[in-house]
Amino acid sequence: MYYIGVDLGTSAVKLLLMEGNGNIANIVSKEYPLYFPHPGWSEQKPEDWWSGVKEGLKELTKDFDKSQIAGISFGGQMHGLVILDKDDNVIRPAILWNDGRTQEETDYLNNEIGKDKLSQYTANIAFTGFTAPKILWVRNKEPENFAGIKKIMLPKDYIAYMLTGSFCTDVSDASGMLLFDVAHKRWSKEMMEICGVKESQLAAIYESYEVVGTLKPEVAAELGLPESVKVAAGAGDNAAAAIGTGTVGDAMCNISLGTSGTIFISSKNFGVDKNNALHSFAHADGKYHLMGCMLSAASCNKWWMEEIMQTDEFAKEQAAITDDMLGNNHVYFLPYLMGERSPHNDANARGTFIGMTMDSTRADMYQAVLEGVAFAIRDSFEVAKSLGIEIKSSKICGGGAKSPLWKKIFANVLNIRLDIIESEEGPGYGGAILAAVACGEYASVEEAASRLVKIVDSVEPDKELAARYEERYRKFAQIYPAVKELFPKIS
Ligand code: XUL
Repeated sequence: MYYIGVDLGTSAVKLLLMEGNGNIANIVSKEYPLYFPHPGWSEQKPEDWWSGVKEGLKELTKDFDKSQIAGISFGGQMHGLVILDKDDNVIRPAILWNDGRTQEETDYLNNEIGKDKLSQYTANIAFTGFTAPKILWVRNKEPENFAGIKKIMLPKDYIAYMLTGSFCTDVSDASGMLLFDVAHKRWSKEMMEICGVKESQLAAIYESYEVVGTLKPEVAAELGLPESVKVAAGAGDNAAAAIGTGTVGDAMCNISLGTSGTIFISSKNFGVDKNNALHSFAHADGKYHLMGCMLSAASCNKWWMEEIMQTDEFAKEQAAITDDMLGNNHVYFLPYLMGERSPHNDANARGTFIGMTMDSTRADMYQAVLEGVAFAIRDSFEVAKSLGIEIKSSKICGGGAKSPLWKKIFANVLNIRLDIIESEEGPGYGGAILAAVACGEYASVEEAASRLVKIVDSVEPDKELAARYEERYRKFAQIYPAVKELFPKIS
């Protein structure tokens, strides 16, 4: 049988067709626009996602025996606010995970309601990208839209709804809404009250590997797929990527270098970092995880190359960064192009270059960009270490993981071994695995991940290079505290 994983990302939807034995039979990608209507705001149209998914599904399956397609599931961009009216029309464009408009609402939640209460209700505190502050923003700034809300959804759940008619979500994605009581896996009554929403406006909750429905007859006909295709709840893209890289069980780590950059640590037990610098969320394997998320990772690379250097020759530009330059750059870059989430929680933070001299080159600047992203992930890695979590190695996935240079920088900045998986398609592969488990091909997510995910290569840190990067990280870590007071004044 075949299983489809839908990775509903920020720049594109990637669809992956997996055979029951884990072989990837086909991959298709469909891009859609991303809108920045104001600096720091970030929106997409759910209708564009849906068109991309439909086109992608048709293209993905056109040369295959469709009667063999058994299941579909997802890894979806997290935290986005999708609101539908009583006729199921999308009320306004979705407000995305990297949108920073809700500083006022976030401050209200963290300071007036209080971090302790938020943490007690949801295991987390408010960040501008989380869903609850966005609901408050719509309530405050667009009361007419707020009044018309019938259903509140996350991005991938909108796709599940369009495919099946089932108003559902999963525990991992629900965790990022700040409306979900992660410890007990149920909606938080207190948070619903604070946000002015009723439980009927929120979706039914499933584990990621549970079936939520089958294809609607008209959708099946349009896509040319059997009506019997089962749709499983799926997961937030980071939890799905963790499944796709075999990051299940206790203290396993995955780094994802997509538009965002995340460090994901799986855990068998529920736990909260007392400063809430790391998110405490449910995992797609039925257990839990901690996660740090930086808002601009591979997108810094894309921005520097495409917007600033006006080139798409990534490999050529990276070839100019030679081995002897690593660990020796005196240019630093703070990668806060969309503000920053973990660990600074500062929507006003901005991208910053510092340390250039007359002899600084184009390659030095590019190297600083790649290193800045690795240092920013190290910030969250340090928080995990301070909690007593020992990380000796990590998986790595996402578009950024295609670059051998960037992987080498990461291995040495973190001073850990990085394991490379056969497929870099973390969320899509994880989504397909969740569909396979939902359809009974495997007994559990853990079993599927251990049988299907294969490590094909590793990047070991080099002692001397890691020591040079240690010194440079110490300097990097002083830059944000030194300039942070400036950001609100200049934005
Ligand atoms: C995680 C987060 C991002 C998005 C990217 O908390 O906001 O990683 O899920 O799609």
